[in-house]
Amino acid sequence: MTEPKKTPVYVTQPLLPPLQEFIPYLQQIWDSKWLTNNGPYHQQLEQELCSCLGVKHIALFTNGTIALITALQALRISGEVITTPYSFVATAHSLLWNGIKPVFVDIDPVTLNLDPEKIEAAITPQTTAIMPVHCYGHPCDTSRIQKIADNYGLKVIYDAAHAFGVQSHGGSVLNYGDLSVLSFHATKVFNTFEGGAIVCHNAKIKQRIDHLKNFGFVDEVTVAAPGINGKMSEINAAFGLLQLKGIEEALQKRQAIDIRYRKGLAGIKGIHCLSDAGEKVANYAYFPILVQPDYPLSRDALYQKLRDNGIYARRYFYPLISDFPMYRGMPSAAHSNLPVAKKVAEQVICLPIYPELSSEQVDSIIALIAR
Ligand SMILES: Cc1ncc(COP(=O)(O)O)c(C=O)c1O
Repeated sequence: MTEPKKTPVYVTQPLLPPLQEFIPYLQQIWDSKWLTNNGPYHQQLEQELCSCLGVKHIALFTNGTIALITALQALRISGEVITTPYSFVATAHSLLWNGIKPVFVDIDPVTLNLDPEKIEAAITPQTTAIMPVHCYGHPCDTSRIQKIADNYGLKVIYDAAHAFGVQSHGGSVLNYGDLSVLSFHATKVFNTFEGGAIVCHNAKIKQRIDHLKNFGFVDEVTVAAPGINGKMSEINAAFGLLQLKGIEEALQKRQAIDIRYRKGLAGIKGIHCLSDAGEKVANYAYFPILVQPDYPLSRDALYQKLRDNGIYARRYFYPLISDFPMYRGMPSAAHSNLPVAKKVAEQVICLPIYPELSSEQVDSIIALIAR
């Protein structure tokens, strides 16, 4: 007799409230016939996110990538920007879309974020900004990065795609730097199907961003910049408002899974769980492990073993951004410049983590790794 096939477990599963709870929002949109262009749900979500995240201004976008591209436009960044190779490819792509040259700097071996120690050596007369990533939602060393930026007159734009709700001891991590960019993609802790946002600190820059995301229109007859269409629709914004109601509970469930993994994996030789970066409030967006040489299987063999058992973990972030064809010819992409990132990319596996992942599923993943 063959065993019944188990349902596959993916690295994440989107947070979806019951469909019937979304119907009244849709009804409202149908009644008002206001589908996009700064509609009432869009305005309400911006307000609610400001208070929920503890930030001053937020501009909603159609996705995080367009928000990153626009953030660079808003500050007129050009020339070279220092960034991390250990991220999702959109981080560096946003630079190329602006005709900016990314300069890759290695990561810290503990936090896996841009290593502030190595930033200064990469600064040239062409450098205009630093684009660090709060990788896995673990805060960067924001004070050291700011100090370097101030010394050299550079802007700082954080790719905070993973950092929804994260607080360091000074409050929301989104308040550091000149701008921070969030992603509300389906795979993120908080999703609007597709979506994103720019967090900024004053009304003037918020206004410029709002113009840029609406083709550059200032009023009916004035176009101040070659803007783009980056507006979030009313459907996405309404869904975001509904999502917000369940976010606290979702974060608590994620935390419980994180604790369970850490406990279960603690004694396994060769498996290293990434610690947090000392944040006051974490969001448990990912559960990365490093498969080290004293584990009996290679990283890829463990990855395959998990797949063979229906566990679709992901190798975030492998390959490094700097290894993709459009980047690998750049001097800063050389492996000798990025030894830590290279090593980590060859060891990492992100295990499944999402609110509906059951304790039994977590235990069976731990058992597979332990066996
Ligand atoms: C670090 C990082 N930056 C940028 C993005 C791009 O966001 P989006 O998919 O919303 O365009 C993502 C994820 O998708 C990401 O993980």
